[in-house]
Amino acid sequence: MRAVIAGTGGYLPERSISNDELAAWKGLETSDAWIVERTGIRRRHIAAEGETASDMGAKAALAALAQAGASAEEVDAVIVATATPDSAFPSTAARIQGKLGILRGFAFDISAACTGFVYALGVADAMIRCGQARGVLVVGTEVFSRILDWSDRATCVLFGDGAGAVFLRALPEARAEGRGVLSTHLHADGRYGDILTVDGGAGSTGTCGVVRMAGREVFKHAVTKLASAVDEALAAHGLAKEQVAWLVPHQANIRIIEAMGRKLGLPMSRVVVTVDRHANTSAASIPLALAEATRDGRISHGDLVLMEGIGGGLTWGAALARF
Ligand code: UT7
Repeated sequence: MRAVIAGTGGYLPERSISNDELAAWKGLETSDAWIVERTGIRRRHIAAEGETASDMGAKAALAALAQAGASAEEVDAVIVATATPDSAFPSTAARIQGKLGILRGFAFDISAACTGFVYALGVADAMIRCGQARGVLVVGTEVFSRILDWSDRATCVLFGDGAGAVFLRALPEARAEGRGVLSTHLHADGRYGDILTVDGGAGSTGTCGVVRMAGREVFKHAVTKLASAVDEALAAHGLAKEQVAWLVPHQANIRIIEAMGRKLGLPMSRVVVTVDRHANTSAASIPLALAEATRDGRISHGDLVLMEGIGGGLTWGAALARF
């Protein structure tokens, strides 16, 4: 059995803020030049007051179902990757299931920060392969604007809000065609938890806390760990890097994305980049990029797509799929 990415969808909140607007904030002491040079980010979307991860995720999920030509009855499971759930429970996945009017199956959240979508894809793929589900909505949705310290220029300029989704459909014949999710390669090393963390939580401080990051350290881990995850994914199938049609990376920093493109020998025209307009949307960044590149016709039937990401935990991983 193979899990085929039958549809993709994305949602971005209406409000978009430029670097110049942030730079004009009193006391932040940043500049468009610094942010663009160090990260490639020019703008980010920010959720409206009261707009939650489940609101955005439901919109992205509906778009993915529509593109797949699937109805709510086809959904056996909703799996949501998020670090900014509406509440500790019900899960954001259960809320999205309810908002979509899905009356059967099961729903749960996954916590793997910016690697969340790759983890969720891995879990969904495994469930489809073993026959536990035939249609799975995999959603990454984040309102990082609510867990940022807006006076900390080292973090607040880096993140944005948004949601992305894919609908996975079990398709036995996809195996012979070489289509579908080929494999996912998931990793974690909890020793490095402190270099990228949220400094509070319902079960510790009783508050939601804000993002704290030792940027330079995370950067070093990102370059080496993503490179080895990508090697591992290709080696698992005896694939050469030349066979990759598209790199769809987690969107944290254009310098990390370019380093991965160079490693694979891919021109930037074969790398899907949204970080300039979306900033880092954590678990939403890969499915948002997938939605953009499948809808504008860049990624098409038969293309081999390599996804990779790293985030708090530390967690990191890679996934290979043929569309
Ligand atoms: O999605 C999860 C994974 N996350 C990542 O992959 C992020 C990885 N890290 C990064 O992308 C980069 O390390 C950052 C973009 C976070 C930072 O870039 P950097 O080139 O590593 O800068 P830095 O942290 O070494 O800071 C350089 C200087 C510092 O000043 P001094 O100490 O040299 O005087 C910072 O205080 O830049 C200063 N700085 C800023 N200046 C203007 C930090 N943030 C800002 C800012 N505006 N927003």
